[in-house]
Amino acid sequence: MPGALPRRILCLMPSRASFAILAALLLSLPFILYSGGFGLRGLTADLSGETRFFTTPLPNVLIFGHMVAGALVTLLAPVQLLPVTRRRDPRVHRVLGYVTLSAAALTGVFGLLYIALKGTIGGPLMSAGFALYGALLLLAAANTAYHALDKDRARHRAWALRLTVLALGSFLYRLHYWVWYAATGGAGSTEAFTGPFDLFNFTGFYLPYLVLLELWLRQERT
Ligand code: HEM
Repeated sequence: MPGALPRRILCLMPSRASFAILAALLLSLPFILYSGGFGLRGLTADLSGETRFFTTPLPNVLIFGHMVAGALVTLLAPVQLLPVTRRRDPRVHRVLGYVTLSAAALTGVFGLLYIALKGTIGGPLMSAGFALYGALLLLAAANTAYHALDKDRARHRAWALRLTVLALGSFLYRLHYWVWYAATGGAGSTEAFTGPFDLFNFTGFYLPYLVLLELWLRQERT
């Protein structure tokens, strides 16, 4: 057809989904760099005068290790969804997949152990919200791996999408606070994390997005 773009070029052109993934990556990049950098510094230097997270060796490894692993998951889970990663060379997708799922497992396990040892700044309700978050991240990582090995592409895709929503959750937690403070000056939020906004955000950074994803997946199926 005259004027039509060759197929090879069309394949390389980003779709609407790719643009959305790239936008999410770009927005979360400062947080990914912050988390990775903070984690690496906590694992290699004495930050006792700088942050309340630096205490004794075991909790230090857990909290700073989870920050490094978490930064990797937040970066790699969306990258794995990009058509260019999935279609051009399946080996790249497979190797990155193992790295992403290992990082997700470390993030979840280290985060849960840290909560068991030290709790969270917001007390039992925040600890419960974050513990559920960690458990769901582990569930999504395990199912993504299982259905990939089982060669069930539809289920693998659905769980990979759930994993990505959860991977971005930690960034969304901070984004909610930034947007809320910019819009309201911090109404409903206290230093002790006891305000209605704080209570909402203990699970509000992942549960509503997971529900939206389930509705979208259901609509897609029908
Ligand atoms: C998914 C990627 C994740 C990233 C990038 C990440 C990153 C971070 C960072 C940077 C902090 C330090 C707080 C700050 O400076 O804002 C933090 C704190 C924390 N994270 Fe994560 N995290 C992730 C997932 C998780 C998961 C799945 C859990 C639960 C198992 C978890 C549990 C915690 C806890 C308990 C704290 C300390 C909360 C407090 O007492 O202030 N994180 N995380």
